[in-house]
Amino acid sequence: MSDPSELPSESMPRAESELKPLSNAEDLALSNSASAQIARILNPTDLALVNGFAIDDDEDADEDYVAVDQDDANDMPYWFRRPPIYNRSKLDELHPFVQLLSVSNVDDCVQVENAFPEPERCSREKFIYRLSRCPELSLGLFTLPVIEEGVPKPRATLVGHIIATRTSEPCVTDRSMRLPTNWQSERWTIEEGQAVGHEEGGGTIAIHSLAVLPEHQGKQVGSTLMKSYINRIREAQIADRIAIIAHDHLVPFYESFGFESHGLSKCQFGGGGWVDLV
Ligand SMILES: CC(C)(COP(=O)(O)OP(=O)(O)OC[C@H]1O[C@@H](n2cnc3c(N)ncnc32)[C@H](O)[C@@H]1OP(=O)(O)O)[C@@H](O)C(=O)NCCC(=O)NCCS
Repeated sequence: MSDPSELPSESMPRAESELKPLSNAEDLALSNSASAQIARILNPTDLALVNGFAIDDDEDADEDYVAVDQDDANDMPYWFRRPPIYNRSKLDELHPFVQLLSVSNVDDCVQVENAFPEPERCSREKFIYRLSRCPELSLGLFTLPVIEEGVPKPRATLVGHIIATRTSEPCVTDRSMRLPTNWQSERWTIEEGQAVGHEEGGGTIAIHSLAVLPEHQGKQVGSTLMKSYINRIREAQIADRIAIIAHDHLVPFYESFGFESHGLSKCQFGGGGWVDLV
């Protein structure tokens, strides 16, 4: 594409011959100089192309030179800031976005939870309970492929999730992981003098599940989700700490986010052998 004047008129209209004044031009109150700038951009004869980008080859351009303030970088069009397409990571390929979960995601969560060995999986009933009682403590990373124009938007796929409840204990406990039998009729459940399940006023957020669909593991989904989760909780200042239990091989993974190991956990869930991380 060496000569922009060869472009069909649909892709690059000529300002003088084809552009009509905007109906709200007066409302926009464009200054004369701004209007002149726009007219020059729209008129390709004033522009040269270098590597496909329009540059101003006007000899007076130096007079218009303005040093770019780096603080304005966020105002640059987003495609200037995207990494080049050949540098895309596996995570980029998923076009990921994170979002709170709700009971409408229970089936998706059950699917993702299959990443755990069977004895360590959260049951469907527990997902319903946790996502009904405290959905604000959850987070999901979804993928939605880029689709052709006119094709109906598909439902986003849940790739990874974090599910949590609150506890007044400093670490994750077996009691905090249990499903209160009467949760649908009672707001609080006390058994043998101690709270069971989600404790609304608890200062510790107890993460019960971080899981990523097996086919998407190793693409930075888990770490992206965890970083995003920690940032959200920290910025919202809604807890004193976040706690999780993990097996030995994942301790360095959690330490990389700032979790500290507190030694062997008392939790016997799924056969025990967990390390407390806070
Ligand atoms: C653990 C899990 C959530 C990690 O998610 P992921 O998206 O695969 O992880 P990431 O791609 O973000 O990995 C980042 C780093 O974490 C570490 N890591 C991830 N999975 C690991 C594993 N199973 N063992 C040891 N280190 C691991 C690696 O250091 C990795 O760095 P690398 O990419 O340079 O190799 C995921 O593997 C999973 O769902 N596992 C099954 C469920 C589970 O065990 N959950 C944890 C409960 S405590």
